[in-house]
Amino acid sequence: MDLSGRSVVVTGGNSGIGAAIVRSLAAAGASVVIDYVAHPEDTADLVKEVTSGGGRAIGVEADVSTIAGIEKLISTAVDEFGHLDAFVNNAGIEERHTLLEVDEKTFDHVMAVNLKSAVFGTQRAAKRFIEQGSGGIVVNISSVHEDWPMPGNLSYCVSKGGMRMLTRTAGVELGPQGVRVVNVAPGAVDTPINESTMKDDSLRQKLENSIPLREVADPSEIGGVVAFVISDAAKYMTATTVFVDGGIMRGSVGL
Ligand code: BGC
Repeated sequence: MDLSGRSVVVTGGNSGIGAAIVRSLAAAGASVVIDYVAHPEDTADLVKEVTSGGGRAIGVEADVSTIAGIEKLISTAVDEFGHLDAFVNNAGIEERHTLLEVDEKTFDHVMAVNLKSAVFGTQRAAKRFIEQGSGGIVVNISSVHEDWPMPGNLSYCVSKGGMRMLTRTAGVELGPQGVRVVNVAPGAVDTPINESTMKDDSLRQKLENSIPLREVADPSEIGGVVAFVISDAAKYMTATTVFVDGGIMRGSVGL
């Protein structure tokens, strides 16, 4: 995969799937803006790891649930690397509750971090791509739960379902301007979001038994697919979703 010379923003880039995406993109030669809201020390370590391997990366603290935060990331990419070629809407949180339990504040928070950020991240990145006249790509990290219900995880599922239609609608609107929009939808991945499941042997076993490939993904297995989707090898892909789930959605037993 050759992404040399590409300038990419990864939201929520200092942990979990985001950090793995940063590693894959940098290894392919891209220059990366790593967005974060917490743990500056992890961001600093990741920047050091990338730069000591000969890559280019910079950490930026920005809350992507605000347009100001998104604009800060894009202007940093342009100031530091001269242009923007790809924007990865990866930031996301999970707050487990059913429909009957959810309260307004929690719902608004999940939607702001997971979906509003992706809508305006896509919008602001697309405006920049159009202004540059160079085309570009937005990758939205959704989830198998963009399509597959997960009882007890209502707001998260609603936000991921929203990303599904964001990608389809924006992809169709922006195609004529050379801007691609693609979802990468992971299944169960060994990241902080799944920490409680991974630490509980019986829950982990139950989860793994429901996955045809019989293991939870390593974050690098998502990072590699994102690098592919950004690359020219995937330049005919838009307004669609790539599922990277070990077959979990086709398994016979749910969670
Ligand atoms: C969720 C996990 C869940 C996995 C598979 C992910 O999107 O964050 O909590 O285990 O999907 O269902």
